[in-house]
Amino acid sequence: MKSHGATRTFGLLTSGGDCPGLDALIRGVADAATTRYNMNIIGFAGGFRGLIDGDAHTLKSENFSGMLIPGGSTRIGDSTGAAAPRSAALHDAAVGVAEAEAAIDSYRRFQLDCIVAIGGYDALKTAYHLSRHGLNVIAIPKTINNNIWCTDITYGFHSAVEIACEAIGRLHSTARSHNRIMVTEVMGHTTGWLALYAGLAADADVILMPETPYRIEHLHEHLKQRAERGIHHSIVVVAEGALSEAQGRERFSPGRSKYHQSNLGYHIAEQLESVTGIETRVTVLGHQQRGGAPSAYDRILATRFGAGVADMLHEGAFGRMAALKGNDTARCRLAEVAGMLRKVPPQHDLLTAARAVGTCFGTPPA
Ligand code: F6P
Repeated sequence: MKSHGATRTFGLLTSGGDCPGLDALIRGVADAATTRYNMNIIGFAGGFRGLIDGDAHTLKSENFSGMLIPGGSTRIGDSTGAAAPRSAALHDAAVGVAEAEAAIDSYRRFQLDCIVAIGGYDALKTAYHLSRHGLNVIAIPKTINNNIWCTDITYGFHSAVEIACEAIGRLHSTARSHNRIMVTEVMGHTTGWLALYAGLAADADVILMPETPYRIEHLHEHLKQRAERGIHHSIVVVAEGALSEAQGRERFSPGRSKYHQSNLGYHIAEQLESVTGIETRVTVLGHQQRGGAPSAYDRILATRFGAGVADMLHEGAFGRMAALKGNDTARCRLAEVAGMLRKVPPQHDLLTAARAVGTCFGTPPA
């Protein structure tokens, strides 16, 4: 069937950090748009930078074959490569005017009816920024951080939870065999979704996250009570952006090493070992959480988001982001989403459930 809808040709780009099976998401959009509506797709390499520089190539349906299951990211190239570091994206509207003009120029030159931007928090700001410059833009939320407003889940989050959960789960035996505290630092940027889900699923004793600033004395007390019950080992999951109470009050922004690690896991381990006297070890999962094959859940989400976005392109539902609310796909206005960070709400039912089974968040329950 030939597309008689609002979109004949659209540009496709991915921006920001990769995630497990990013290609599956690209395939979801591309397959639905070509199979269902016979649309033309131009892939832009290097994220928004590719749009600005006009670095593009036509994507054909044969390019997408076999992209759902294996890990991989991304066949069109995202904005994290050396040629286009993340900072090259149009994050700041104030410096984005000339670049926005260049992007508009490419948009016209390639005769696009819309840009489909796959990305996280920063990419959504850029997508909105371009839509305010008159471009038709549709976004798809993709980040392992799950920190995007207006959607219950982002693509990539579920896979990252699975990876982190598997890794943390494997530490239980060492913790028990050696009576150690095993600290694992997970990603999540300034939110604790990944730490909360992975920690809960992997039966962590302690989960530290930015939304529940911790007090070391409270942690100490919790571990002491475990020791009094004869349990001398513990699994501690630390979100890379976790904050102590004092840091929370100062709106502290965690420092990063040259290699972008927060080093928070080591800092917490040092504090715990010194207050408890229990031997402590640290694992920093890092980019393990962003690679490899997507989970079955994310493969299905990729297909659902892809089909939903193809419909949005056809209908001309521009200036919107695909979303999932409850069990249903939904659409949100970019204006509503851009610049909004979704943190774990203090009354979130997972926090309540975790506390009910004795998980310590380093802070007395609210
Ligand atoms: O935004 C996703 C994310 O993986 C964060 O959780 C993490 O803080 C950051 O990216 C790491 O970025 P980079 O790959 O640039 O080191």
